[in-house]
Parts: sequence; C-alpha cells; structure tokens
Amino acid sequence: MSSIQEMFQIHWQNKHVPELTGSSSFKLRSSLGDSERATNHRLYCGDNLQVMIHLLDEYRNQIQMIYLDPPFDSDTDYKMRISLHGVSKHQPIEQVQFADSWSKDAYLQFIYERLIVCRELLREDGTIYVHCDPKRNYLIRCMMDEVFGNEQFINEIVWHYEKWTAKSVVGFQRNHDTILVYGKTNHPKFYAQKHITENLRNKYKKGYLIGGGYGPKGLVVYDPEKPIVKKKIASGKYKVHYAQMEGKPLSDVWNIPIINPMARERTGYPTQKPEELLQRMIQSSTDEDDIILDAFMGCGTALAVAQKEGRRFIGIDSNRRAIQMTTKRLLQCMPEEHSAAFGIYLDDTYNTTDNQQPWIVKCSSSHGMLMIDGQIEQSSLHRMHIHSKKYDWRWFVDAIYIDWHYNGEVFKPSVYDIPGRNALVLGTYPVPEHASDIGICIVDIWGNSIKISHQSS
Ligand SMILES: C[S@@+](CC[C@H](N)C(=O)[O-])C[C@H]1O[C@@H](n2cnc3c(N)ncnc32)[C@H](O)[C@@H]1O
Repeated sequence: MSSIQEMFQIHWQNKHVPELTGSSSFKLRSSLGDSERATNHRLYCGDNLQVMIHLLDEYRNQIQMIYLDPPFDSDTDYKMRISLHGVSKHQPIEQVQFADSWSKDAYLQFIYERLIVCRELLREDGTIYVHCDPKRNYLIRCMMDEVFGNEQFINEIVWHYEKWTAKSVVGFQRNHDTILVYGKTNHPKFYAQKHITENLRNKYKKGYLIGGGYGPKGLVVYDPEKPIVKKKIASGKYKVHYAQMEGKPLSDVWNIPIINPMARERTGYPTQKPEELLQRMIQSSTDEDDIILDAFMGCGTALAVAQKEGRRFIGIDSNRRAIQMTTKRLLQCMPEEHSAAFGIYLDDTYNTTDNQQPWIVKCSSSHGMLMIDGQIEQSSLHRMHIHSKKYDWRWFVDAIYIDWHYNGEVFKPSVYDIPGRNALVLGTYPVPEHASDIGICIVDIWGNSIKISHQSS
C-alpha cells in the first residue's frame, strides 16, 4: 500500500471489508430478442452488492468499464410522475422511486463495499467512473484512493450544466456534478476525444472547407454525410482531412445540458443523465464488444448508449420500475438492423407484483385472436382520481409482452406492445398458427408486472 493511501484513509463506524461470497442466486427469467446475443447483455433486478458478488464467478477481471451513479446522500425521496395513457386532461400522481437518506457512516460503508467488488470485476486495463456531487465527492475520492490506489487516479470530470434552482441565501448556484475516474491499473484503455468548438462548427456550416490550412487542394470535412460533401470526396480532386482531427482535445470540464422536458431521450425517471455524457465516457474507455457495467442503472442511460455503440452491457437496479423502463428503452431505441437482445435476471425469491393486486385480468381467444380485458380495483381507480365506473383498462397499461410458447421458466416474448405516452396498448392480438401455452406479461403504470398464462383454443 502506498504511503499516501495510509495517510489519507477515512474512517467511520463499523468500517469493514465485505465478504465477497453471497448466497443470492439470480436466474434468467426473460429473454428478449436473439437469445444467443442476449447472453452478454443483461439486466439484473436486485441489490447491486449481491448481484456483483454473484457476477464474480463469471465476470471477475472481465469488465472493461464501470459507471456508478449512486444516490448522493441528498436527503431526498426521488419521485416520478405517473399518468394514465391516452388521457389528456388528467392530473398525474407522484410515486417514490428511490430514497436517499442515510446516516453518514451507513452511506460511506455502502459506497466502500461496492467499490471493492467493482475493483474485482474490472479488467486490468479497465476504468471506473463514479458520479457524485459536491456534498460527498471529497469522501468518495478519498475512498477510491484507498481501494484503487492514488496512482490510478485519472481525472475528476466536472459536468457543468445550467439549472436554475431555488435561490440559496448564502452561496453560489450549484451547477455541476463531479465524475471521478480511476483505472484498475496504471495502463487503462483510453482514446482521447476531440471537441469541435463553436468556432469550428461555424466554419463548417456547409459541411466542408476548402484549404483550411491544408493547402489549396485540402478538403476539410465536418459533415461527411452531406451529399455535397460526399460528392466532393468522391471527385478525388482533394486531399481529405476530417474536422474531428482539428477539434481541441476534450478537457475535464464538460458542458452538457441536462435533459430538457421535451427531449426525445427523456423517460421521466428521476435523476436521468444525458446520453451525451455517457457517450463520451464509453467512447473514451471502451471498444466495440467490450463489457460495460452500470450498477445503479436507473432508466438505463449507460445501457442505451452501450447498445447504440455496439458494446455489451450489464445493468443492475433494485427498483423494478427501473428494469421496466430500461427494457422499454432498449427495445425502442434500437434501429431495426441491430434489434435489441438482452436477458432479465431476477433473484430466486423475487416477487413480481405488489402484495395488493390492483388488477383482475382476463384472457380469451377465439377466431385466431387473443383478447385481453382488465378490471381495476376501486381503490386503485381512486388513487388515479377516477371516480366513475366508465374507464378503459388500457389507460393503466404501460406495455404488454406476449410469448406464444411460454415454457414456464424463461419468458421469451415476440410481441412488444409499447404505446407512446398518448396512445393505448392494442389489447387484441392475432394468434400465430402454432401457438401453444401463451404467456402474457402486463406492465402497469404503477410498476407491477402481471404474468398470466393462457391456453390457446
Ligand atoms: C441516481 S439513479 C441512476 C440514474 C441513471 N444513471 C440514469 O441515467 O437513469 C440511482 C439508481 O440506483 C438505484 N439503487 C439505489 N440503491 C441500489 C442498490 N443497493 N442496488 C441496486 N440499485 C440501487 C436506484 O433505484 C436508482 O434507480
């Protein structure tokens, strides 16, 4: 251990190194898309310490990049707005997704244990990014020095954004988070990124620039996709240079806006991070096919970017709503040609619904069609401010997945009915010819997953 680590270790009550053995066992419960590809693209629902200990058997020293975006010890309950589908004039309700109140000792032990397992999972040339805010970042950095070694420190990235919070009486507006970056060893994989400055962007409005310091025959390309640029490149008259080569090396201060309320990537999950942030980390520290682990997955920002960039991924969250939202996001954000493939793993003891079922679901089939119908329990209707007996059960449904050959073990849906915010699920589906034991999973607006089986008639 280096002297600096000895000098700056922090202590708290009951500080201890966790046992890296666990009793939890996680099983593949759902497989979406091509099942072979799904093997290395995984979502786990459970406590991330238990899951990561479980992963050690298979993934010790295998993970190229880890992103942790843990609770910040903010003393806040993070809520999400829940609204009915397809009903415009309706007042949403709020539902807590995760709590973030701790005793300081418990918080430090929570982070410490997870850092230790992360170290075991990382490859020798792997990198860990830990997202924190100014309240606890100095303590986490000290802990990371202890776990990874001060020599392994790479950067403290400042993510700067504009956000006008309530005026504080004393002090400046807090407009940044910090992301601590450490390698497992002192030779992490790293690809320097270039930043296209505003100046450069303006120069290349046309998509190209002739000359630009490369002599009269130089063609500097900013937007290689523009038809006029393609034509110029194809003419063979120019020596082509790409503008990315001209950008400034990316610094450790990143100006990236927070997600605006109308952005396409916005899911509504509290604390969602922008994809651009994750894209920079992933492009800097991984290659195609490398494995990325996000142990505080939320609505799956890191996984969505990993999927788009052709990386393998493992995401963990203890909140089943996070798993459902990530599932939808991964299925929706993929262009047709690389359709998503991933598996969902649950603890053996996992219970998929709240104790109090808000639903009675009925299925029937005739004339080659499967019909689903639902009845919502009265207190749940009242919870959503509905007091009339006239309602459409589909207002309460976020998604329906159907497996036409459910073996009772692994759910492999081939129908994904995921309506937009203002639309409804279909509720009626054509049954394929050889359908046998039909498995149906209904995800409701409160986050319950209701699985039912139906024999095709
Ligand atoms: C700050 S949010 C992550 C947001 C995410 N980066 C995104 O862009 O959506 C933290 C997440 O960690 C999850 N979480 C908190 N404690 C956990 C634990 N012990 N195990 C697994 N997940 C946990 C919460 O449910 C929450 O979804």
